[in-house]
Amino acid sequence: MEKAFSSQEASSTASAEKKVALFGQAANHAADYLAIERSSPVHPGAELHEELARLDDLSLDRPMSPSELLDLLADLGRRTAVRSTGGRYFGFVTGGTEPAALAASVLAQAWDQNAAMSTMSPLAHRIDAQVARWLVELLGLPAGATAVLCSGASVANWNAVTVARDHLLRLDGWDVDRSGLMGAPPITVVTSAEAHLSVDKAVRLAGLGTDRIVRAPVDGAGAIDPARLPHIQPPVLVIAQCGNVNTGHSDPVGQIDKVLRTRGLRDRSWIHVDGAFGLWAAVSPRYRDQVVGVDRADSWATDGHKWPNSPYDCGVLIVADPAPLESTMAIDAAYARIPGVGEAGGSAVRREPMQLGPQMSQRARSVPLLATFATLGRDGMAALVDRCCWLAHHMARRLAEGGAELLAPVVLNQALVAFGDDSVTDAVIAGVQGGGEAWFGTTTWRARRAMRISVSDVATTLDDADRAVDAVLATWSAVGADR
Ligand SMILES: Cc1ncc(COP(=O)(O)O)c(C=O)c1O
Repeated sequence: MEKAFSSQEASSTASAEKKVALFGQAANHAADYLAIERSSPVHPGAELHEELARLDDLSLDRPMSPSELLDLLADLGRRTAVRSTGGRYFGFVTGGTEPAALAASVLAQAWDQNAAMSTMSPLAHRIDAQVARWLVELLGLPAGATAVLCSGASVANWNAVTVARDHLLRLDGWDVDRSGLMGAPPITVVTSAEAHLSVDKAVRLAGLGTDRIVRAPVDGAGAIDPARLPHIQPPVLVIAQCGNVNTGHSDPVGQIDKVLRTRGLRDRSWIHVDGAFGLWAAVSPRYRDQVVGVDRADSWATDGHKWPNSPYDCGVLIVADPAPLESTMAIDAAYARIPGVGEAGGSAVRREPMQLGPQMSQRARSVPLLATFATLGRDGMAALVDRCCWLAHHMARRLAEGGAELLAPVVLNQALVAFGDDSVTDAVIAGVQGGGEAWFGTTTWRARRAMRISVSDVATTLDDADRAVDAVLATWSAVGADR
């Protein structure tokens, strides 16, 4: 028996040493990657599929050593990882990685804390609480609001719609928890045709059905026109947007709130804001006007992995009043009860992450965000937003000077550019994507194909922006010469 124990101990010491050695190996590989990410093609080239086919050689019957596997992954990453954190990736709204956040997330991986509840990790719990406070403060949201982390804005939107649904129906005397949705009073959802697809998905997942959606008319920039907000009967859930994925424009949340109040609907309405990236305009004194009145909403979804440059994945749901959130999400498990809390009828959940969202186990997503906020501070966060917006303006201006057409005014970090007819625009974008110098996505705006410029990587410099614009103009010229 003793022999068995002692051999086990020897093997666990070996296992600890192995972890340290492998961690060092991974850290070295990661550092090598970071050293080359800016100087290599932004998107993998034609050999991509061939390279990735090397994964087919792995076998469940012939396990390889961890060290060999790390070498293989490092090589694959070096050859095929999209350099979305290297300064010249302008696709989607991807965000890069703030150095402190990336490094802190590596530490958090080593700790492997389960952030579900305070007893499981006092460390993760304390950091989560601090980040939640800072999120509310940085975004200028009401002081009593509660923030909770999740995997992304899609999930945050879905959770918000679910909470709003339960709350609105409760006001109408309907208990979704007990009675479900069959036979429930109908809720009308008001959003615009410009809403992100995750909003429609959230409405579907929450069991409301997309037939319940009424589309509010938008202005030329894609923002809801509050004067033309449809007349609807309560209960009503309005889903507004901060940061249109094409133009960067935001819906006027303060005015929407006012219209609902004037119509006597506010007591039986809920305003949710999908602010996946645009909500971050609130941290900048220069761009705060874009989202003025956003604090009048009842809930907000945003992302840490987009503009704050936290590593993937990190979404955020914020609710003005935590009570409806707790009511929808909390579970009463004996092992999760906190002695002394809630015994006198108060909140039973004391900011326990598992009681504020659908998931129980979760990694400590707060750690990289803490690193970003603590090292950049309020001014650094504003500077990050300002710099991205300034670079988007700069790129758009240079392209316009080069003859390209701007399809919408640049108001934030997004720009839409066309290069003549749709086929030329598509050819220019495809050429740039294949060229490796920079990467831009495509979109269709007001029936025109467009190149979408999104500046959200903390690593992007003026030189990166200029190199990307040069690549676009050179590609356009080559496309023109071929026609
Ligand atoms: C406005 C908006 N809402 C929601 C989302 C979905 O966010 P996520 O990918 O983090 O789920 C996005 C993503 O691009 C977005 O731009």
